[in-house]
Amino acid sequence: MTHTLVVYWSGTGNTEIMANKIGEGLEAEGLSVDIKFVEDVEVSDLDRYDRVAFGCPSMGVEILEEEAFEPFFAQVEGDLGSKKVALFGSYGWGEGEWMDEWKARTEDSGADLFDVLIINSTPSSEEEETCVDFGRRFASF
Ligand SMILES: Cc1cc2nc3c(=O)[nH]c(=O)nc-3n(C[C@H](O)[C@H](O)[C@H](O)COP(=O)(O)O)c2cc1C
Repeated sequence: MTHTLVVYWSGTGNTEIMANKIGEGLEAEGLSVDIKFVEDVEVSDLDRYDRVAFGCPSMGVEILEEEAFEPFFAQVEGDLGSKKVALFGSYGWGEGEWMDEWKARTEDSGADLFDVLIINSTPSSEEEETCVDFGRRFASF
């Protein structure tokens, strides 16, 4: 069984909903999944996982959340070369520029990037199913 981590930051709960639904999809495919808020994860914990889904909404002006998520990701991005990675997050009024930059940065890190998923504001019930499906597909990537 492969071990999968879903690690996220969320201020108002939208990315958290995505994290839980993506985790649901991964589990539905039989994977062992830990879903954790970024502040509950140590950088060294990443060693235990071969598949990681990172979640963070668009904050600042089209950047990752600066207090907790950005420092965490900056510390782990150099060690993603052997991992399968997915990125997700919620956004508000922008056009997803934060994710375009985050995706390019992750590809540059050498990670095996599965895909990215962005959702505007709070996921609708249909969009929640999109998250579950994203998790299912990530499980078999
Ligand atoms: C301080 C702050 C900055 C934000 N900056 C952006 C932005 O640059 N672009 C954007 O599309 N949305 C922006 N948003 C909107 C959030 O990305 C959006 O509300 C998202 O759903 C929040 O996700 P969460 O509930 O997981 O925290 C910002 C929100 C806050 C509070």
